[in-house]
Amino acid sequence: MIASDLSTLPQPPTRPGNGHLQDWALSPLPLIEDGARRARAAEMDLFRLRLGIPAVVGFSPAWNRRLLGDLDTFRSAGGFSAVVPYLAGGVILTDAPLHRRRRQTINPSFGKKHLETLRARTQAALPPIPDGEFDALAWADSAVLRLLNAAYFGGEFDSQLLHSFLAPLRRPFPVPALPRPLLFVRVDAELRRLATRRLTQGGDDLLAVLAPVPGGLEEARVSLAAAHDTTTHALAYAVWHLANHPQWHTPEHHSAVLKETLRLHPPGWMGSRRLSRELDWNGIRLPRGTLALYAPYLSARDPQLWDDPQEFRPQRWERKPPAWAYLPFGGGERLCLGMHLAQMLILDVLSALPPLRAFSGDDTPVPGITLGPRGPLVVARQS
Ligand code: HEM
Repeated sequence: MIASDLSTLPQPPTRPGNGHLQDWALSPLPLIEDGARRARAAEMDLFRLRLGIPAVVGFSPAWNRRLLGDLDTFRSAGGFSAVVPYLAGGVILTDAPLHRRRRQTINPSFGKKHLETLRARTQAALPPIPDGEFDALAWADSAVLRLLNAAYFGGEFDSQLLHSFLAPLRRPFPVPALPRPLLFVRVDAELRRLATRRLTQGGDDLLAVLAPVPGGLEEARVSLAAAHDTTTHALAYAVWHLANHPQWHTPEHHSAVLKETLRLHPPGWMGSRRLSRELDWNGIRLPRGTLALYAPYLSARDPQLWDDPQEFRPQRWERKPPAWAYLPFGGGERLCLGMHLAQMLILDVLSALPPLRAFSGDDTPVPGITLGPRGPLVVARQS
């Protein structure tokens, strides 16, 4: 069979002059939902986007599995992370064959065994839960900053500097993509100061394990950037769901609540790669250099794979999810480095929360570098 051209793929309607760029920048969720609907109607698992370079979005388990499993063909270095200085470095931009060795070096620091040794410290760092009404999004933001400071640096990183470093990531594009050389110099100096202390006096936080590794300080900086908004948004949504569905607010249900939160609102809503060679996907010829996207948001809401996908139903987690359809932490060798850390921090926070009720809020998912609620999400202790 002769493979067809990319132009035969379904695509959402374009706008004159800019293809999909405007919709991609202003409202990407309706755009990709439309693309997925058209692809499903054509019995395909891929649709095309016109973003100035050849681009495709796939959402089927088969596509996810291939993209996440074939690191030679699907390269990270040409993806979106490369244009965000915060994420353009360390393991995130390292491709095969070096990637595997890099992950093997740093995985143990973020493994369950090491994290368990940090747990008492992160639990103690949790800020108090306010007495009256409070915005769960703003509270999660500052709580995660403190928890990460405790896990990485035993709470010793200048908290104002950490806040200034991470704040631009949450702003709409192009703010996170702007170079910030002076800020990065200050952050790197603080990292070196704390690393030197650990190398000379010892320590057991994440920085103490990363400090002796070549490139370890860059890994600390890049992974902090990958950690903060993702964990904040997941926590804020989880608190909001608990406040709206208080019957699920028991320690034995929290794991299912977190899974369901991440299914409906995956902070990593879209992942990107570039094709290092031409690829034939089900008879469609994808040229070398194509921007290849996978979409945890679409896969986790696909009506062909999930019952009532738009509903918050933690009970669905009594059964295993469909394979390669639930990817809030990605998958394969590039599975999120901080998955266990994020889960530990969030679950510990949920068990420390009193019974809550929801007051008012705007939980509309807003996709930026990560997907988060528009907010505020006002909740209060149940009296
Ligand atoms: C709920 C919180 C989090 C979510 C939803 C999340 C999501 C993700 C996703 C979807 C990926 C794969 C991206 C891709 O395939 O392109 C990823 C990778 C990554 N995450 Fe997370 N993440 C979270 C927390 C964290 C934390 C706490 C850290 C801190 C270590 C972290 C560090 C990383 C790094 C370094 C990578 C790149 C791994 C590689 O390419 O080998 N993440 N994350």
